[in-house]
Amino acid sequence: MLFSLSLLLLAALSAAQTISGPLDCLPAGNYQLCQNLWGRTSGVGSQSSTLVSKASNSVGWSTTWNWSNGPNAVKSYANVESTVAKGVQLQNVVSAPTTWTWSYSTRSDGIRADVAYDIWTGVPQVGTPASKNSSYEIMIWLSGLGGIQPVGSAVTRGISLAGHTWDLWRGPNQNWQVLSFVIQDGEATNFNVDLNEFFKYIIANQGVAPTQYIQSIQAGTEPFTGSAVLVTSNYSVAINHK
Ligand SMILES: *[C@@H]1O[C@H](CO)[C@@H](O)[C@H](O)[C@H]1NC(C)=O
Ligand SMILES: *[C@@H]1O[C@H](CO)[C@@H](O)[C@H](O)[C@H]1NC(C)=O
Ligand SMILES: *[C@@H]1O[C@H](CO)[C@@H](O)[C@H](O)[C@H]1NC(C)=O
Repeated sequence: MLFSLSLLLLAALSAAQTISGPLDCLPAGNYQLCQNLWGRTSGVGSQSSTLVSKASNSVGWSTTWNWSNGPNAVKSYANVESTVAKGVQLQNVVSAPTTWTWSYSTRSDGIRADVAYDIWTGVPQVGTPASKNSSYEIMIWLSGLGGIQPVGSAVTRGISLAGHTWDLWRGPNQNWQVLSFVIQDGEATNFNVDLNEFFKYIIANQGVAPTQYIQSIQAGTEPFTGSAVLVTSNYSVAINHK
């Protein structure tokens, strides 16, 4: 009894795990934390990510990055991806509550980076992000620093959704369309909303078919240049559906 209790304690104490390889991932309850340093060769630098805590349906994590060169190129998308909130058609979503509490604990002057959701939809129920199965990549930028811009061009400005004001950008990338909501009223560091507001908006205004399946919901950061430590103290997402 004492023995198994101390094993439990050890397991809790050793919960903080760090990954540093370019494509390393860690399981984290209902999530997977991945480094995804896909654009690393467009610059010079390094990044590591740490799983800080995990609970039944929430996760805490951080990522430490330092990138230079290639000022207009994304170096990585360290993120947590839900392993359960997916496989639902947009028209069957009743609500998609999410919480994301985050901050930069340090950042160098003039960083170029976003903090953003990356939500993938497509015709098949199952789809790897950025694959042949992807129809739409829906980004929600809670922060965009240093004058960076999403794919495409601004199609609608000043949209009120989820308690904030957004500009919507749209453009193609490989075989999918990118729809990026870029926050206009500062950084949303304590984001607690229903993602279904965004889904309803793109069905009503951007011609997205309600039969599209949510294939993946990711939340992370795209650094271009500079150095920072981004801490997510609490993140969660769920889909309640018909
Ligand atoms: C980032 O990398 C540069 C170049 O290697 C180094 O000079 C600088 O000290 C690093 N910054 C941080 C915060 O680690
Ligand atoms: C694409 O969808 C099919 C089902 O239509 C599935 O079997 C396959 O694993 C998916 N592939 C990728 C790369 O997402
Ligand atoms: C994290 O967010 C979830 C969902 O809102 C909430 O239930 C939980 O209490 C939060 N955890 C912390 C440590 O704030």
